[in-house]
Amino acid sequence: MGYNVAIDGPAGAGKSTIAKAVAKELNLIYVDTGAMYRAVALYMLREGVDLTDREKIASKCTEADVTIRYEDGVQVVFLNGENVNAYLRTEEVGEAASMVSPIPQVRKNMVALQKNLAAKSDCIMDGRDIGTCVLPDARLKIYLTASSDVRARRRYDELLAKGENCDLQKIKADIEDRDFRDMNREESPLRQAPDAVVVDTSDMAVEEVISSVIELCRSTR
Ligand code: DC
Repeated sequence: MGYNVAIDGPAGAGKSTIAKAVAKELNLIYVDTGAMYRAVALYMLREGVDLTDREKIASKCTEADVTIRYEDGVQVVFLNGENVNAYLRTEEVGEAASMVSPIPQVRKNMVALQKNLAAKSDCIMDGRDIGTCVLPDARLKIYLTASSDVRARRRYDELLAKGENCDLQKIKADIEDRDFRDMNREESPLRQAPDAVVVDTSDMAVEEVISSVIELCRSTR
């Protein structure tokens, strides 16, 4: 097996920002597993599937063929052959992803795809169950977290910068709902692996987090 780093943690902890920067610095492939669940969610939304109908999602998920390619180091997600990167990072798709991701049939396909990517290349992979389930033998496991206040504030600033109208209290409530769903579902809940290093970024600047994670990687590579 190559060199694999697992980063797990709740929504909005900064996993993708950190993983992307670390991947670039250390020449690793960045595998964004949330984007894969988002692609399945996008398929269900487009098909007009009722997202509370788990059986329907379980049977329809075989129609959503998700594949990954890397173009200039950037992960490109294909849904039935179409590049869907531009549609994945919306609140609507994020919400839908949190509804489809607990379904075992959905996870089975995604986990196989993720294991396969990790077997082929040195990578840093982020998600919810990477250290506990997808890459239990990862050389380094990080659990990246921050208080829900701080995560809501970051999200709020991000949306404001994009010129979107938003309400801080609502964002915080949504984040807490999503945490609850991610941590309390039956299938692969968000859990800290016993051998994970916890990095609480509540009082850290992004640059600080990046350099501590790079440090951790260098000491394990
Ligand atoms: O990290 P994200 O916001 O892109 O994730 C979208 C949803 O997918 C989120 O509700 C959790 C879920 N997810 C998961 O269940 N397992 C993963 N490895 C990654 C994401």
